[in-house]
Amino acid sequence: MLPDFIVKAMEDVESLGLKRTLRAAERRSPREIVIGGRRLIDFSSNDYMALSMRGELIERACEWTRRFGAGSAASRLISGTTEACLLLEEKLAAWKGFEAAIILSSGYAGNVGAIAALSGRSRTIFANKLNHASLNQGCLLSGGEFKRYAHCDWDRLERMLANAGEGDKLIVSDTVFSMDGDIADLARLRETAERHHALLYLDDAHGSGVLGEHGHGLATPALCDVALSTFSKALGSFGSCVCCSRAMKEYLVNHCASFIFSTALPPAVLGAVDAAIDLLRTDEMEQARAALFRRADFLRNGLRELGFDTGKSETMIVPLLIGETERTTEFSMRLQEEGILGVAIRPPTVPRGTARIRLSLNAAHTDADVERLLEAVRRIAGR
Ligand SMILES: Cc1ncc(COP(=O)(O)O)c(C=O)c1O
Repeated sequence: MLPDFIVKAMEDVESLGLKRTLRAAERRSPREIVIGGRRLIDFSSNDYMALSMRGELIERACEWTRRFGAGSAASRLISGTTEACLLLEEKLAAWKGFEAAIILSSGYAGNVGAIAALSGRSRTIFANKLNHASLNQGCLLSGGEFKRYAHCDWDRLERMLANAGEGDKLIVSDTVFSMDGDIADLARLRETAERHHALLYLDDAHGSGVLGEHGHGLATPALCDVALSTFSKALGSFGSCVCCSRAMKEYLVNHCASFIFSTALPPAVLGAVDAAIDLLRTDEMEQARAALFRRADFLRNGLRELGFDTGKSETMIVPLLIGETERTTEFSMRLQEEGILGVAIRPPTVPRGTARIRLSLNAAHTDADVERLLEAVRRIAGR
């Protein structure tokens, strides 16, 4: 027998049309997925550079597994820190231009642990309202005062900071907003943080490996104090790292609970990430990034010509804003009938009244794929 609160909670999500369910999917390639026996072009993943199935990553994952084992056997502070892990942290720090990097088990665990460690009861955290849920969880866990400003409302942030008094301050923001595909004004955030003596923490989950100079990401050492990057998106694997100063890394090694009390990532994952960084520095990837952004422009322009709102998207994440939850779910199902996977994103992931199809492009898509997507949208919308 389930307790009443669980039964009631499930009745509520069902009646609001917001019930989430799991469905089996088989990824055939970064551009193709099979669901319910149907082959679909996948416009839903975060595999931006199409690395998740690259032979180079798979090979190095196998090689590191053969050399170091299937598991890492302990947390990093016990016996889980291998030479390979330390070298990878140095490689990550150098790639990002920071003094140091610390590997954590996922983007979620990284944000929750690092933010809780960097804040505390006596501190105030200022966070963008559209930040990723893992950042919010870190802010809540820290026990500090948690103040949220409206999406990219820099004047509001300014007023909040001015009224906050003298205590320690932490500003937390995504670089790229995952459901909107727009980019925070990072120079302004940096300048504001400096003026108010606040630490600036940037989550570069959707920038790392794909945006910024040579795909290094948007959260550079000139723009923030602490940068979280995930390995689960453009790097095609799993895990995350926090880049920062050497002294800050030492602090996190001693205070970040999700680092201290969790087993180190397995060698297979570290090997895949090592290979991803090598690949991301090649000319092939530079060209793939240019083609990706060209296709994203083509998609945005095409959707706008069809009369759709794509918000402030300026990256490979392009929201097709619909508004009402039921219509968005229906639109997503119609796309699937057209052979396209474009997932409906509904409240509470996005604010009420702003349900959307989140379309994300990756390096494996072709121009013809995007044309097919636009043609399907045109047919569904009857335009
Ligand atoms: C902005 C942002 N931060 C963090 C995460 C969590 O990363 P991970 O999936 O590696 O746990 C996500 C993932 O979806 C994200 O979009």
